[in-house]
Amino acid sequence: MKVGGQPMRTLWPAPQRDALMVIDQRALPHALRIERLESAEAVEVAIREMWVRGAPLIGATAAYGIALQMNRDAGDASLDAAAKWLARARPTAVNLAWALRRMTEALRPVAVADRARVAWDLADAIAEADVETNAAIGRHGLALLQAIAQRKPGAPVQVLTHCNAGWLATVDWGTATAPIYQAQAAGIDVHVWVDETRPRNQGASLTAWELGQAGVAHTLIADNAGGHLMQRGEVDIVIVGCDRVSARGDVCNKIGTYLKALAAQDNGVPFYVAMPISTLDPALDDGAAIPIEERGAREVTHIAGVDAAGALVEVRLTPEGTAAANPAFDVTPARFITGLITERGLVNAEAGALRRLIEQAP
Ligand code: MRU
Repeated sequence: MKVGGQPMRTLWPAPQRDALMVIDQRALPHALRIERLESAEAVEVAIREMWVRGAPLIGATAAYGIALQMNRDAGDASLDAAAKWLARARPTAVNLAWALRRMTEALRPVAVADRARVAWDLADAIAEADVETNAAIGRHGLALLQAIAQRKPGAPVQVLTHCNAGWLATVDWGTATAPIYQAQAAGIDVHVWVDETRPRNQGASLTAWELGQAGVAHTLIADNAGGHLMQRGEVDIVIVGCDRVSARGDVCNKIGTYLKALAAQDNGVPFYVAMPISTLDPALDDGAAIPIEERGAREVTHIAGVDAAGALVEVRLTPEGTAAANPAFDVTPARFITGLITERGLVNAEAGALRRLIEQAP
């Protein structure tokens, strides 16, 4: 991705391998703030408080958290303890546990004296693999957008997306946005309906920002507008990301995804989920068993933005003391999903197809 015309990733290790550089997404879209994380504890805070967010990016960030911990103390107890408390930083996205398991399993057999170097190499490899995975998801998703473009020459391909499953949610490319960026590069006229994604507004603040940086045509909509646009024939395809997919293909993603899937089904709009294989949880069959993060009421009762003077302010929307519930994710049953766009191609959201996908994975 390019920011202000310059190529950039969402995280990168400091050259001395003594820190991880990340974008503090809480400041976007109003400021591009780069933070230097110098310890595994700082990484844990950045994940828990959503400086970094999005399932693949959380995984890669946690891998570097282990590398930072190995700089300080590469012993077994230190490795296991850091993996344990990093895993608790956020409960829903399975990439976090996946990356920590990869790190701990690879590091345990390594001599303590070599662990820091191996940990940084492996974290780099996890980050690099994320970029390649998303580029491949983009290529497979591009075929879907090309087919739509051929059916409606002279008119834009209308994509609806929810939350931010973009460049900012990964190391590069994004998952749901990768096909969109590749369609743009292929000269396809593409327009994106961006759900604002209350309550944290990742669509309004992050997806709109990164599509704008990339020069992709987009229009922000209130979360409630998607069904209406589908009824009017103004959505050709829905592409969303995912935080955990169960063995039978139920998809856990940002709250509100399920309602979009219902509307898509009623209107015959194809509903696709961009899924890196690292987001598949073969240990869970029924999506209803996926732990759903409950976030603070303040995200619902208050809203942040910039005032006329450019100062970041937070205002209350509700009567004082209003109780608010804030489940951060929901589960869309597999029967509503047209297909999963993975790095290995399109896959049905169905147990047999997902089992074969895992068996083929290296
Ligand atoms: O709570 P967040 O912002 O970390 O939510 C995760 C997400 O970004 C979305 O659910 C996204 O669609 C999946 S991550 C590619």
